[in-house]
Amino acid sequence: MTTSGSTSGATSGSTSGPTSGPGRERQAEIYRGGALGRRPAVPADFAGLERAAHEASTGKAWAYVAGGAGEGRTMRNNRDAFDRWAIVPRMAHGNVTRDLSRDLLGTPLTSPVLLAPVGAGALMGADSDVKIARAAASLGVPYVFSHQGCNPMEETAAAMGETPRWVQLYWSTDEDLVDSTIRRAEALGAGALVVTLDTTVLGWRPQDLTLGSLPFSQGVGIAQYTSDPHFTEVVRRRVAAARQSGAKDDVQVTLGAVRTLLSMTRAYPGRFLANLRSPEPRAAVETFLDIYSNPGLSWDHLATLRERTRLPVVLKGVLHPDDAQRAFDSGVDGIVVSNHGGRQVDNAIASLDALVAIRERVGAEPTVLLDSGIRTGADVFTALALGADAVLLGRPYMYGLAVAGERGVAEVIANVIAELDLTMALTGVADLAGITRDLLVPNPSRQ
Ligand SMILES: Cc1cc2nc3c(=O)[nH]c(=O)nc-3n(C[C@H](O)[C@H](O)[C@H](O)COP(=O)(O)O)c2cc1C
Repeated sequence: MTTSGSTSGATSGSTSGPTSGPGRERQAEIYRGGALGRRPAVPADFAGLERAAHEASTGKAWAYVAGGAGEGRTMRNNRDAFDRWAIVPRMAHGNVTRDLSRDLLGTPLTSPVLLAPVGAGALMGADSDVKIARAAASLGVPYVFSHQGCNPMEETAAAMGETPRWVQLYWSTDEDLVDSTIRRAEALGAGALVVTLDTTVLGWRPQDLTLGSLPFSQGVGIAQYTSDPHFTEVVRRRVAAARQSGAKDDVQVTLGAVRTLLSMTRAYPGRFLANLRSPEPRAAVETFLDIYSNPGLSWDHLATLRERTRLPVVLKGVLHPDDAQRAFDSGVDGIVVSNHGGRQVDNAIASLDALVAIRERVGAEPTVLLDSGIRTGADVFTALALGADAVLLGRPYMYGLAVAGERGVAEVIANVIAELDLTMALTGVADLAGITRDLLVPNPSRQ
């Protein structure tokens, strides 16, 4: 597929004229390219992007990334919630420039969009996290590194230059691993530690289950573990103990087992041939599966964070107003209202509906982000009008990666920010504070 020229910056402080902004710049870039016979790398609408990504993906990759919990009702709820609101544009406002910037817990944002932590990205393209990081950095958009990432977080950080990055943590049953991950996040200059609460166990995911497919058991999505000094030490001890006990390997040699072994071997750090002869790649997968998430995670665990890190702490996966209130009472710096993109509980409340109830409870002051269902710039506008300080973009950028690699990710991000900017221009809003609830009504066509 041919591509247009460089994806223009998403910042509001552009120099190309008083009426410009990321929206008009992106439009101009696409239309200029079009006049020369060039097409964007990714479809500009979400449905087209999703179709193209589906075509570009293997069955197992698509099941993992696009799939959801149970009958998919939470994913539908997420989208339906956006459709139940309508934007009411205001006219003749005279605003020609927009300021999309905001400070979020000390992280400067050029637009109210961050990239959500999405694990096992290599399913959609090799070197996924580094490519995503480069794309994010090209637009100055912060990236929340997934604890289930496919490149070591230090490598991903190095690809971002000065662009802010946050680090997401799944609370392991091994407390030393929690500490080690926090130390690494601090060392790479993370702007916040994002602790995901909603995945103490994996949800019931029929698409993956039907294919018997879990990326982690193939060694995909465990790079933060296999690059961790504490984790690798645990694996070595495990291998040594197995050797000493003379435990027999009772794995049946099937084609599937050989494929799994090759996948684990490829994903493991170090040389392929050496890994092939080593028991470590398999032991790493087994160790990971044993300790990766703590089903007993409680407020007592979370209370220890204040002594364990100086980073701002953000809790991700909050849906109930009581939990939101408790989070802020316990001193966390922010929350992400999220149902994990509908991947955990089937027929859970839409994130957007939860946001409304949570904002009502905690008031205007606390930092509240939203994800799950953000597909377009108009969605970002709606989420902000309902009280989100910023949003996290998830599946759409993964689809960009599947369709056109790093460039695809950059275009997807640029398109969302462009549409947000144009929506602000067309509703008479000059800055993010101007995106208020009175610009929305319950959608009369959906009542
Ligand atoms: C394939 C996939 C992997 C994900 N991995 C993680 C993860 O490792 N950590 C995490 O906190 N959230 C993870 N999430 C959830 C996202 O951070 C985010 O909440 C979700 O993608 C939002 O839903 P949406 O993409 O449908 O908008 C994942 C989501 C997807 C689709």
